Amino acid sequence: MSSRRTFIATSFAAAVGAVAGYFTGKPGNETPHQERIAEDSSTSNSPPAEVYKKGLVISTWYHGLVANAAAQEVIAKGGRAVDAAQQGVMIVEEDPTGTSVGLGGAPDREGKVTLDACIMDDKGNAGAVCFMEDILHPISVARKVMDDTPHVMLAGEGARQFAIESGMDTVNLLTPESKLLWEEWLVTSQYKPIINVENHDTIGLVAIDLEGNLGGACTTSGLGYKMRGRVGDSPIIGAGLYVDNEVGAATATGLGEAVMKTCGTFLIVELMRQGASPQEACEEAVTRICEKQDYADFQIGYIAVNKAGEVGSYAIHKGFNYAITKDGKDLGMVNVGSYSSD
Ligand code: GLY
Repeated sequence: MSSRRTFIATSFAAAVGAVAGYFTGKPGNETPHQERIAEDSSTSNSPPAEVYKKGLVISTWYHGLVANAAAQEVIAKGGRAVDAAQQGVMIVEEDPTGTSVGLGGAPDREGKVTLDACIMDDKGNAGAVCFMEDILHPISVARKVMDDTPHVMLAGEGARQFAIESGMDTVNLLTPESKLLWEEWLVTSQYKPIINVENHDTIGLVAIDLEGNLGGACTTSGLGYKMRGRVGDSPIIGAGLYVDNEVGAATATGLGEAVMKTCGTFLIVELMRQGASPQEACEEAVTRICEKQDYADFQIGYIAVNKAGEVGSYAIHKGFNYAITKDGKDLGMVNVGSYSSD
C-alpha cells in the first residue's frame, strides 16, 4: 500500500472523527488498480478544470469502452456531463448483442424485456423509468421525465405511454437470440445468479465535463428471467446512481436488491462528502453489504469520482472492471479490487 493511500485513509478517519477501524475495506486485497488510482490521486487538490482539461469519463464493464468514446465526444465539444452520460449509454442500449441492457436484454420469466434507467445532472435534477417495455432508449425517456415533467420516475405502461407521446417509436426488444436463451431457461426455470457472468452487466457511467461539472446515467434490462414486475437498483436515485455536483458521483452494477438495501451510491457520495476518497467510499459501501448479507453468490461493483477528479472502485468478488477515459484519452479497462479473495 502506498504512503499516499495510507495518508488518505488517515485523513478520512480524522475528517469524520472516527476511531481506527471505521474504514472497513478489507485490507490485503489491494490490486495494482488501487495502487494506480492512488497514484492518479496525487493531483487531487487541484481544481478539476486544471486537472481534467479534457474531461473524465468512467463506466462499468467492457461495454464502457464504446460508451466512454461517445461520452467523450460530447465532452470534447463542450457538452454537459449529463449529455455525455446519456449519449454514452445510448450506444450500449441499442447494441443487440448485449444481453443485459436495452435491445437484446434478457427478458423476465414471461419473456418480456422490461427496462430500468435513471439520469442525474449537475443541478441535482433527476429522472427515471422502470419496468418499461418496447422503447429502445430508456435513458432518453428518463431524461425527458427529468426535463419535461414535475416527476422523477415513471413506471411500466405509464412510462411507455409517455415515451410514445414524446415521439419515440416502439420496438421489439426481444431479439431471436435472447428469445432462444429464454426458451432454454424455461426448460428448468431455475434462477441462480452467476457472479460476473450471468446478467449483471448494467452500464453505469459518470463524467466530469470541461466546466468541472458532474453528470451520470445508469441503464439495464435487469436480472435475466426475473419475476414480472421486478425493479432493480438501476432506476433508483441513490441506489444505481447518485450525483452531487459539489461532492462527486457514483454508480453501481450487480444484484440490485443488495444495492437498494444499502442505498449504495448515495452512501458513497455521502462518505465522500465527509472526507472519504472515492476508493475508500466504494470499499465502505461494499463492506456494508458484505457484513450483513450472504454475498457468496452475487456480485456488486461500484465506481465513483469526486469533484477533484479522483476515481475509486470496489467489488465484492474479483472480475469486475470499468472503462476510463481521462484527459481525452481512452485508458482502457481497469480491473477492480475485491472484498472477497474468492
Ligand atoms: N443492477 C441491475 C439490476 O439488479 O437490475
